[in-house]
Amino acid sequence: MAFMRACSRFDVEPDRPFQFEWDGDPIAIVALDDEYFAIDDTCTHDRFSLCDGYIEGDEIVCPLHLARFAIRTGEVRMAPAYEPLQTYPLKLEGDDIYIDPQAHDE
Ligand code: FES
Repeated sequence: MAFMRACSRFDVEPDRPFQFEWDGDPIAIVALDDEYFAIDDTCTHDRFSLCDGYIEGDEIVCPLHLARFAIRTGEVRMAPAYEPLQTYPLKLEGDDIYIDPQAHDE
């Protein structure tokens, strides 16, 4: 695993994901119940940015056609998306958030 610093935890507001770009791919870092999660930022329906969407409960909602995804697991909760979002390992060290964006390439 190759963790890299993505941002400070202060960059991630409770209802506003932080977009971290790695190798041209945007990853959304989301705060939920005093924890942080890293998921693909790109909606699997029509490739819209989920960082432009909103958070409701434990779901992130795509603003374009209102698909819903579970923040913790990336699973689809509501169509029109059917493919889950990729999730990424994340760890907090002090106030810094580290993710492993290559975890699924190995
Ligand atoms: S692009 Fe996200 S629901 Fe269509």
